[in-house]
Amino acid sequence: MKHNVLIAGPAAGQLSGDLTPPGDKSMSHRAVMLAALADGVSEIHGFLPGEDNLSTAEMFAQMGVKIDWLNAEKTSLRIHGVGLHGLRGPEKDLDAGNAGTCARLMMGVLAGQPFTSTLTGDASLRSRPMQRVSEPVRRMGAVVEGKDGGNFLPITIRGGHLHSIDYVSPVASAQIKSCVLLAGLFASGETTVREPRPSRDHSERMLPLFGQPVGIDADGTIRLQPMQRLIAPAAPIRIPADPSSAAFFAVAASLVADADLLIHDIGINPRRDGWRHILADMQADIRLLDEKRVGDEPVADFAIRSAALRGMQVNPANVPDAIDEFPVLFVAAALANGTFLLQGAEELRVKESDRISAMANALNACGAHIEERPDGIRIDGCGSLQGGVEIDAKGDHRIAMAMAVAAQRADSDIRICNAAAIATSFPDFVSIAQRIGMNVHWETL
Ligand code: S3P
Repeated sequence: MKHNVLIAGPAAGQLSGDLTPPGDKSMSHRAVMLAALADGVSEIHGFLPGEDNLSTAEMFAQMGVKIDWLNAEKTSLRIHGVGLHGLRGPEKDLDAGNAGTCARLMMGVLAGQPFTSTLTGDASLRSRPMQRVSEPVRRMGAVVEGKDGGNFLPITIRGGHLHSIDYVSPVASAQIKSCVLLAGLFASGETTVREPRPSRDHSERMLPLFGQPVGIDADGTIRLQPMQRLIAPAAPIRIPADPSSAAFFAVAASLVADADLLIHDIGINPRRDGWRHILADMQADIRLLDEKRVGDEPVADFAIRSAALRGMQVNPANVPDAIDEFPVLFVAAALANGTFLLQGAEELRVKESDRISAMANALNACGAHIEERPDGIRIDGCGSLQGGVEIDAKGDHRIAMAMAVAAQRADSDIRICNAAAIATSFPDFVSIAQRIGMNVHWETL
C-alpha cells in the first residue's frame, strides 16, 4: 500500500538529536548517467534510493547497462559502464516517472544515440515544459517529436551524428545546461553553454572525475571539448547528503522552541547553499562544523537552534542557488516577523507543481498572509498557523514536506493530501522527522 495522506501537527516538545539526510538527488542522477556511459566499472556510495533516481537507473538497465546493488537500502551500487556508444535501443518506452531532472538530462544522452527511443513520465511530468531541452538538442542534429512540437512528453527522439553548438540558455537551469553538455559528449567540436545566472554545477564538477575536462571562462561560459570516451573513476564516487532535504529540518529546528539539532554531511556547494544564506539573513541560528570535501564537493555539519526569524527581500540574483528550497523558506517566512519578498522566481511555477500557488494556497488555508505575484510572492509573517484543515500537496514532494514543517507550529493537526511523492526524493522523511521529535505520521487506513 502506498501512503498518500500525511497528518502533521504541533510539535509536542523540542526537536533534538542528529541525522544525516539521504544522498543528493542531482548528483545521484548524474553519477548513474556518467557511470553508465563510461568505459569500466564505477562504484557509487551515498546514492539516493528515491523513486526519481531509481527511474534513471532503470532506464539504463533497459538499455543494457548492468547494475549491481551492493546493499539492501540501495545506497551503494556498482555500474558496469558500456561506453559512450554501447547503449542498446530500449524495447519499451523509457519512463522518468515524476523526475524532471532524469527526463531533461536523458534528452541529452538519447540525442547522442543512433537508435529511436521514447521518453515519457507521470501526469505531472507530462505537463512540464520540455521545449527548453528539445530545442538545443534539435539544433545539435537530433530529431525530436512530441506533443506541441516536442514541448511535452511523451517525446520520441532519434540522435547520433551530433554537431556542437554555442548555446545561450534563456533560463538559469542546470537541467538545460547539463542536457547540452551530455549531448556535447557525442558531438563533433567544442560545445559551449552560457546561462543568464549560474545554476548548480554538479555536471561540471563530476565530468572531470570521468576524465572529461570542462572549462569555465571568467564570464561563466562553460566549454566541453569531447574526449570521445568517459573512463570509470578508480576510486568510488561518494555522494554527500542532499542540502534540499536538510533544509526541511533546518527550518523546523529554527521554528520550534528549544530546538537543538545537528545535521551531518550536507553539501555546501555555493550553487546549492543559497537557502542557508537566506535563512541566516532571516536571523536563523545555524553554525557550520567540520567543513570538508566529499569527492569534488564541499560539505559540512550544521548545528541549528531555534531563533526568532525575520522577513527579508531575496536578491533575484540568488534565486537559482535556492530554487528547490523556496517552499520550506516560505514556511519560515510565514512564521517570521515582518515581510518576506521574492521576485524573479517564475521558474517555481513549472516545478513538480506550481510551487508559488501551491504554497500560497496551502499556507493561506492555515491562516497565513500570502500574496502571489507572477514571478514570486509576498509573505507577511504571523505568529502561528491554524490547523484543522486539509491541504493539497499537489503530488509535489517538496510541498508535502514543507507543509509537514509548517504544521509543527500550527494549533492543531493538518491533513496533507496527495503527499505520496515524498518517496521520489526522501523515502525516509517521516521516520527521520519522528526521530528528531516532529509530529508527523502517515494516515493509516
Ligand atoms: C536540478 C536542477 C533544478 C532543480 C531540480 C534539479 C538538476 O532544475 O530545480 O530539482 O539536478 O539539474 P532547473 O535546472 O530546471 O532549475
